[in-house]
Amino acid sequence: MPRHFLRDDDLSPAEQNEILNLADSFAGDRSYARPLEGPRSVAVIFDKPSTRTRVSFSVGIAELGGYPLVIDSGSTQMGRGESIEDTTRVLERMVSAIVWRTFEQSAMEAMAGVSSVPVVNALTDDFHPCQLLADLQAVRQHKGRLAGLTMTYLGDAANNLAHSYLLAGTTAGMHVRIAGPPHHLPRADIVADAERIAAGTGGSLMVTSNAVEAFTRADVLATDTWVSMGQEDEAAQRQQLFGAYSIDSAAMSLAADDAVVLHCLPAYRGKEIAADVIDGPQSIVWDEAEDRLHSQKALLTWLLRQG
Ligand code: CP
Ligand code: NVA
Repeated sequence: MPRHFLRDDDLSPAEQNEILNLADSFAGDRSYARPLEGPRSVAVIFDKPSTRTRVSFSVGIAELGGYPLVIDSGSTQMGRGESIEDTTRVLERMVSAIVWRTFEQSAMEAMAGVSSVPVVNALTDDFHPCQLLADLQAVRQHKGRLAGLTMTYLGDAANNLAHSYLLAGTTAGMHVRIAGPPHHLPRADIVADAERIAAGTGGSLMVTSNAVEAFTRADVLATDTWVSMGQEDEAAQRQQLFGAYSIDSAAMSLAADDAVVLHCLPAYRGKEIAADVIDGPQSIVWDEAEDRLHSQKALLTWLLRQG
């Protein structure tokens, strides 16, 4: 059975660390390994829009010696109702891995359930685990470590990023704080999973609606758009609801003096993050975006090595 990467806690702490080390090797030498030499192909399928994920997987697969087969599902038979299982059974005969951005986590699991090649979650409604590999790589590059650091994510605390910060951060032994308005907090089962992980890694977690409590002395501040893909109809209501949960200069003054700021992008300045913060000296968002490339090359290399 191949290894898949469907959610952040599919990797043990040791495996996550191994992939981050490999990611640093790719950052130092973009030709560090070329496991797709041939070229072997990787399908990268999008049911939702993307800039960074599309470009970083396309460039990364090419730099691994492979051929990136980038597919917008609306132009395929998937868009006309062909089943995930049948699509997967055809793809696996021709490609070495499948990377997919879609809506439901259960669909991702259905694909992995029948696939003989690794399946990688490039964002679902529930998780964005590839983003968190890049985030952790960027934090480690700037701070020299992960374990023991306090990482606060705030805004839409019920979305895919919130869930991935919980799982990936506790896997790395970090103290993860998630803040958002009541009724927009992480799913209870994912909080329970993060608590179990933290117990084994020395990390911890806090889920709160008190933004001041979440910001105070944090080493890493992270946020995301308040309106995720598919929620466009709720935009006005969400902007009201999340207004008190943004990273601005007041938030920065509560955090550690040397705190770094993450945003997965795309960013909406003046909403979830102030312009002077994202464009300021503590922002590491452009390194974070570049690290999508290195960390996903590392992930694919590692998954292919697992047989
Ligand atoms: N951060 C991120 O996944 O960006 P894209 O939606 O542009 O891929
Ligand atoms: N939460 C956002 C992340 C975008 C990269 C979304 O799902 O649209």
